[in-house]
Amino acid sequence: LDNGLALTPPMGWLSWERFRCNVDCVNDPDNCISEKLIKQMADLMISEGYKDAGYEYVCSDDCWQSMSRAANGSLVADPQRFPSGIKGLADYVHSKGLKLGIYEDFGHLTCEGYPGSEFYLQLDAQTFASWEVDLLKFDGCNSQREDFDRGYPAMSFYLNQTGRPMVFTCEWPDYQTTHGIMPNYTGIRDACNYWRNWKDVQDSWDSIIDIIDHMGDDVGNFSSFAGPGGWNNPDQLIVGDFGLSQEQERVQFGMWAMMASPLMMSVDLRNIRPESKALLQNKNIIAINQDPRGIMGVRTQQMGSVELWNRPLTPVGNMATALINKDTHGKPAIVPVTGSDLGLVSGSLYTIYDAFTMSVVYNNASSNVNYKIIVNPTGITMFNIQLQK
Ligand code: DGJ
Repeated sequence: LDNGLALTPPMGWLSWERFRCNVDCVNDPDNCISEKLIKQMADLMISEGYKDAGYEYVCSDDCWQSMSRAANGSLVADPQRFPSGIKGLADYVHSKGLKLGIYEDFGHLTCEGYPGSEFYLQLDAQTFASWEVDLLKFDGCNSQREDFDRGYPAMSFYLNQTGRPMVFTCEWPDYQTTHGIMPNYTGIRDACNYWRNWKDVQDSWDSIIDIIDHMGDDVGNFSSFAGPGGWNNPDQLIVGDFGLSQEQERVQFGMWAMMASPLMMSVDLRNIRPESKALLQNKNIIAINQDPRGIMGVRTQQMGSVELWNRPLTPVGNMATALINKDTHGKPAIVPVTGSDLGLVSGSLYTIYDAFTMSVVYNNASSNVNYKIIVNPTGITMFNIQLQK
């Protein structure tokens, strides 16, 4: 979407994967979806260095609303859980130098049964603008998937008409793909700043691999639609949650950088392992994710359980190359490749760095040299490859 926003993949925090639709503030006051939770996350994004690392949007997903609209038709936040209202929360978040994201649904109800935007697109866009919201995640439950191709652009139009810059993120292709409809990525890129391609991420390695497989299959060549202003979205980061080992967390974070994906953490920042925090703030990987040319990496080879991905970087000639090992056998894979398998072009010399640490792995690398790359089980070996001048 050409609205001047999301020129690199947006970074932030989103409540859904970790906190879900927990509205039980009586029994679980510290973890229910509430302004208290969102404010705590905003505070920690500042005090723990996430904002300095680039994370900017703090976002509530589903379940922030009252069960019904106001008498005049406008949306209302749940008054017990959001006593300051969304405008009050936005003021707080803005006072910290962060941006606020909110959630709605294209259908008559959200996935969790709160009022949806059907028949209220324009009013809801105006309400979000009046609350000074900075990002809208627009879900697709309880609606006709055939209507998306007109409905999502309509919401995009109404958001634009408010004059307030708001990142618009769509679930449009996700529901279509999972129901056998081929999404119109040209229309999606015109209307949305980023769009969910596939199923919801869950807190497991299987879920991460299922998503990486889908993104690697790249049906319809959706990778070619990524670029400044519009991104494919493989869903939230589960780094720091319960389901992944340290190796597996590196796979998710590294691959989300390869795929030029939005980096939306969904983790309890009050209680996160130091190594997960350090990974989420790894400036070398974030720099790859945020590369200004915004070319999405693609899967270039599959060799048994190992696959190779390549992403062109800036300046032209540089690249990131990742090898992931999907095998759960205990022994690391030793993968024989040539420089050209890694993406090196013949006639040039390269320096190959470990993408996580930026320490030199191979000097004077070239396309015709053979390399043996070690990739841990459910792990990643990722290179930042720079053309020598
Ligand atoms: C389905 C979406 O795919 C999830 O990311 C989340 O927004 C839930 N709906 C909320 O109900």
